[in-house]
Amino acid sequence: MTLADLVPSLRPTLAARLEPGLWPLTAAATCDGRLTVGGADLVELAGRFATPLVVLDTADVRARCRAYRDALPEAEIAYAAKAFLCRAMARTVAQEGCSIDACSGGEITTTAAAGVPGERILLHGNVKTDEDLKAALDARVGRIVIDSLDEIDRLAALVPHRQQVLLRVTPDVDAGTHPGRTTGTHTSKFGLPIATGDAAAAIRRVLGRPELELVGLHCHIGSQVTSIARYESAAVRVIALLAAVSREHGLALPQLNLGGGHAVGYTDGAPSMDPAAFGRAIRGTLARSARAHGIPVPALTIEPGRAIVARAGVTVYRVGAVKRTAGRTFVAVDGGMSDNPRPALYGARYPLRLLGRATKAPTEQVSVVGRHCESTDTIADDVALPCDIVAGDMLALPCSGAYHASMASTYNQVGRAAVVAVGGGAAMTILRRDTPEDLLRRDVVCGQQVAPGPVGAEAHHDAPASVVPRPSNVKRR
Ligand code: LLP
Repeated sequence: MTLADLVPSLRPTLAARLEPGLWPLTAAATCDGRLTVGGADLVELAGRFATPLVVLDTADVRARCRAYRDALPEAEIAYAAKAFLCRAMARTVAQEGCSIDACSGGEITTTAAAGVPGERILLHGNVKTDEDLKAALDARVGRIVIDSLDEIDRLAALVPHRQQVLLRVTPDVDAGTHPGRTTGTHTSKFGLPIATGDAAAAIRRVLGRPELELVGLHCHIGSQVTSIARYESAAVRVIALLAAVSREHGLALPQLNLGGGHAVGYTDGAPSMDPAAFGRAIRGTLARSARAHGIPVPALTIEPGRAIVARAGVTVYRVGAVKRTAGRTFVAVDGGMSDNPRPALYGARYPLRLLGRATKAPTEQVSVVGRHCESTDTIADDVALPCDIVAGDMLALPCSGAYHASMASTYNQVGRAAVVAVGGGAAMTILRRDTPEDLLRRDVVCGQQVAPGPVGAEAHHDAPASVVPRPSNVKRR
């Protein structure tokens, strides 16, 4: 039961209220159901670019970058590209003074294609393939974050010039988040544990390779972390390791990378990390800890991804069907787990908003589901929507900027949604929708006659035997 259901006369006024903190900074709603972002009307954008559509508020992205720069003026803000990346995004964050934290050769290639200089790119990842390393070396990335003992000699043998590296360590701090997003404990597949001595052993090995210049330590405790205290605990442990390196090797490693993971609230009232509070606390902790160990305060890098881009994005869906059955109402839309796998993966929750028309109807609790052939294809379970919702209506989903487009798939051969950047009333496609031709691009046997191999070897063909005509003169055994 919502406030509007209790006091129906308030309904139009409440329709113009946007939950604070969930929508892009430039979003504005009206009593008649209009919602604009960056001055552009979402219903008009849906008509022009089709649905599902991700609308990205560039001003919001820029403001988030600036908030981090203001909070930590002396630190390096390396935007975590995995949250959302295309050339326009890389350019926007680079213009705002951010570096780019990449985790694959593909992310490096896109970032470099946007014109971001290599020295402003970091590469991390627990497995770096030859292709990843080749892309990193071609782009002359500034730093590579070593994640395992195996990587050290391999990287040293590959680099054509002395390469700056960091070592990723695990401080054994539980980030207090979803288990699938926890990465700073000893049971994590990422990094090398400090407490077991593995991190110190890796440091010795890196220092034994003159091709590699160890410039610091990296840790990332997880994602959707709301507690600043957990970052402080991690920082204290990593600084203790920096001090141990200084004692053992007489070396003051100049850099400390504390990773990303700053929480964003996806539902009304859910907590978000405040960059200013984070900045104040972490600067104090670094200064106190370094002083206590008698080492210089390391230069700080942080890697926020979601906190920069999540709130800038809104997804617009069109309702395809409304089904009332067995006491439940399903509102099925034209997207789903292929544009947002987060509810299925992490049980993520979102609010939704009816777009484009006013209604006096009371709300009912519904399940908004996707179009895919999976029962887990849910967008929002148990959300309040007007009970007069019908096929053809449009819905807006906030907080869609991070880990939506970047985790999108073509499941069920459904093309991935377009991403449109808005600002000053104008809209520009920055990632276009997949076309049917895109979906066939990797299908190498399509339209070709594949010569049949020996019977029984058909399973090794790229195409199923049934679509490859068998010449009539080949006998079945
Ligand atoms: N740095 C490293 C080393 C990371 O592994 C990550 C995220 C980040 C920075 C950025 O984290 P952020 O600030 O965006 O939370 N797909 C999940 C999130 C996975 C995050 C993986 N690593 C989700 O949709 O919630």
